[in-house]
Amino acid sequence: MNTNVHILRGGGTALVFLRSGNAPAALVYWGDDHAGLDNQEQWRLLAGKATPSARLNRNSLQNLAPDLTRGGLSTSVLLAHRDGFGFAQQFVFKQIEEQAYSIAFVYIDEAAGLSLRQNFSWDAANRCLSCSSELVNTGSDVWQIDKFSCPALPMDTNWQESLTLTGRWGREFQQQRQHLSRNAMLIEHREGRSGPQHNPSLVVGTPGFSDNHGEVFGIHLGWSGNYQIRAEHLADCNAYILAGEWFYPGEVRLEKGASIQTPVLYAVRSIQGLNLMSQCFHGHFRDHVLPQWVRSSRPVLSNSWEAVYFDHRKETLLNLIDAAAETGAEQFVLDDGWFKGRRDDKSALGDWTVCPEVYPQGLAPLVGHVLKKGMRFGLWVEPEMVSPDSELASEHPEWVLKVEPYENIQARNQWVLDLSHKDVYEHIRSRLIALLDDYNISYLKWDMNRPLLMPGDGNGRAVAREQVKAVYRLMKDLCDHQPGLEIESCSSGGARIDAGILRYTGRVWSSDNNDPVERVAIQRGLGLFFPPEIMGAHIGPNKAHLTGRQIPLNYRILVALQGQLGFELDLRDVSGDERVKLQLAVKLYQTHRQWIGAAKVWRFERSDVDFCVYVSETKKQALVWALTTGSMARAEAPECKVPGLEESANYQVSSLFPHDHSVWLDYANSYPQWLKQSGKTVCSAAMLANTGLPMPVFPPQTGILLYLEQEQ
Ligand code: GLA
Repeated sequence: MNTNVHILRGGGTALVFLRSGNAPAALVYWGDDHAGLDNQEQWRLLAGKATPSARLNRNSLQNLAPDLTRGGLSTSVLLAHRDGFGFAQQFVFKQIEEQAYSIAFVYIDEAAGLSLRQNFSWDAANRCLSCSSELVNTGSDVWQIDKFSCPALPMDTNWQESLTLTGRWGREFQQQRQHLSRNAMLIEHREGRSGPQHNPSLVVGTPGFSDNHGEVFGIHLGWSGNYQIRAEHLADCNAYILAGEWFYPGEVRLEKGASIQTPVLYAVRSIQGLNLMSQCFHGHFRDHVLPQWVRSSRPVLSNSWEAVYFDHRKETLLNLIDAAAETGAEQFVLDDGWFKGRRDDKSALGDWTVCPEVYPQGLAPLVGHVLKKGMRFGLWVEPEMVSPDSELASEHPEWVLKVEPYENIQARNQWVLDLSHKDVYEHIRSRLIALLDDYNISYLKWDMNRPLLMPGDGNGRAVAREQVKAVYRLMKDLCDHQPGLEIESCSSGGARIDAGILRYTGRVWSSDNNDPVERVAIQRGLGLFFPPEIMGAHIGPNKAHLTGRQIPLNYRILVALQGQLGFELDLRDVSGDERVKLQLAVKLYQTHRQWIGAAKVWRFERSDVDFCVYVSETKKQALVWALTTGSMARAEAPECKVPGLEESANYQVSSLFPHDHSVWLDYANSYPQWLKQSGKTVCSAAMLANTGLPMPVFPPQTGILLYLEQEQ
């Protein structure tokens, strides 16, 4: 049997694809690039595997497009039929398209009239693989597609531990570890969005993998709708990950000549634990997914939500705008409650006209005031939704997604509009464009406050995936209409954060939970795949609204400085001293935000102290956080080690925040000498990386932010 080897290489890494006979290609190597990899003969040996007893007469390699006819134990990438017939297919190799950093394999099943294309592209700079598949109906029958997945990526048999991101409203991105046994592990999400129950991400690796150690393989599916991720160790010593959309029955039909594409699946392999993996994902998303505007200095944002909720009054808001400007905000966002009939969360979604009682002259005076104060204006919208108690729902009940004859369950007192319907799409699009045209809006906070549970159109067909595609299209339409428009992805906090929506939205609202004690874990989980500059992180009030916990301002500031800084509190209420501290936080953020947009991130936890390190691309600067949430595991804090610096350089280390160290003395006899001296302490990168800096004895919910600058 003839074998063919194709190598995707770049940045010191090589991925070797092996084709044997006319079977789909297998990915047989992913690791350091060596000249020896080009020796074809060695790969040929792989094709002739042993055949165990009581199995098939011949054995074959676990390939990237498993099907139902070659006898492999893994699940097929395609489950499809022609009205109950033709339930199994077999794809044979037709052609390959190779370019410098990409390979595409095309397979056909002539009898079925289907063609399958699998695309692989390698980002050499960030060592990230992107892959996707396309299926074309080349025959004359209609195909019913029950499942169509991205290429089935192989796993090593040693990768027996998994890490997933789970959560709920107000507690997103919690890390969960599980042993990967011989049962398949399944993450399935059917809420019409990517979270918060799960994020479409999975890490597998050698047991005990940690922040800086162990072999890990991370994948992320760039899709904001229903999905399934399956990881499975098989009885025959093969193991694979299969990821793709999850379809409702009858949802996808392929007419003659039609095609369907999977979302992009991103994959990174690291032999140095999670931090290296995260850095590769961050780099790839920065360079190839996020909108360009994310690269500009991200403004300090002040949001009206927790300050006034639905109680919009013009005078109050004008005062809030003044207070925001005085505190240093650069963008003011008018949250929910500005439109006609919206005095609580029970009505008016869908009627996107300004409330004439609250704003008799429209939003112009408010927007004008924001601009006069030197800030940009942002507006909250929830375009996919409609309240049963709205003019839109009463005029067009047929525009609502539903599954008849069943009760259309409300969530947060709302239903979902069928954006896959042309008229509905046009109506919402024109309303949003009218708002953009009427007011000087730089920014939309785009919310989605309920899961999509009953995605049936007027004909009773499921349109969940069409809905997601319509949302992407609508975002793109608005950005095309107003170049430079910025959109934030919010879904009751962080329930829609994925590389699909991030193509259009470069900021995410990480969570409605502004309690920094909870935020430490949320931000850590979010940071596993997504870079810090997109992470909305607001300083909340003294008493956190979601948890009731009272938290000192210093700690609220420390934690919020890890992301894109903002305010989520009534800034009219803060004392003079507090405002000075908030202004200082703004200055700190502004000083460093530019380089943070390209920083490498390290996170690690030791003795219940959470360390987070951002190192600039040039390695000239670094920020280091050490934070506690509860009390430390030991009597003294572990030394703070700083990885990623220029190895031969010296760094000036200074304590950036907080300035007042007295809190530590309430809990210990003294704190480290170097923190007592005024000015900077000079340390070598080697000392910082290997020995580390002595830390104070941290009581719960305290911490420190350090700044390191390379000596010239
Ligand atoms: C969601 C968001 C909040 C706020 C409200 C408004 O819960 O996550 O930040 O915008 O909606 O209704």
